[in-house]
Amino acid sequence: MSDARSISVLGICGSLRQGSFNRAALNTAIELRPPGMEVTVADISQIPLYNEDVRAQGFPPPVETLRQQIKAADALLFACPEYNYSMSGVLKNAIDWASRPPDQPFAGKPAAIIGAAAGMAGSARAQGDLRRSMVFLDMHPINKPEVLIFQAQNKFDANGRLTDDVARGLLGDLMKALAAWTGQLAG
Ligand SMILES: Cc1cc2nc3c(=O)[nH]c(=O)nc-3n(C[C@H](O)[C@H](O)[C@H](O)COP(=O)(O)O)c2cc1C
Repeated sequence: MSDARSISVLGICGSLRQGSFNRAALNTAIELRPPGMEVTVADISQIPLYNEDVRAQGFPPPVETLRQQIKAADALLFACPEYNYSMSGVLKNAIDWASRPPDQPFAGKPAAIIGAAAGMAGSARAQGDLRRSMVFLDMHPINKPEVLIFQAQNKFDANGRLTDDVARGLLGDLMKALAAWTGQLAG
């Protein structure tokens, strides 16, 4: 961990659009973080589509930056949209790039997942697929609380503020749990 009092978290959002509900949910999680936690949000918008031929010549700069940010973070916080019952291609592509050897940077990282979706399942299916990838990547995701912001179009105001008190409570609880879990894993 960074030091005895502070925890550095890297946020990774799987939606690139300006008015993204997942980005707004990530902003709310940052707003509700416990004292001593710092959250930086990765810019994954410039990461190219994965190509093994390109990787053979070295990681493109946006990928190298992401890998370094993951390595430096005490914990990771994923905002996971649901596209066709799975995680977005943007998120999967960023994870695929960052995961390549050497020194797979996700290994051993505490992690938390949040998600907002238009449907009634609130990105549950996408989060399930993300958790499956986390097993292979040897991350340590928090199980509960699950943050499933369903019918997201009804839960944020025009400024991207999360207006749903239940969801706000869950986000706050998750951020506290992430701090505790990160401390526990660091021993
Ligand atoms: C390609 C695509 C597939 C989608 N598939 C799902 C889906 O499987 N389940 C769901 O609840 N919403 C689905 N949606 C709607 C998204 O939940 C909605 O667009 C949401 O706002 C995306 O997240 P964002 O606001 O962070 O960009 C889909 C949207 C797109 C663009």
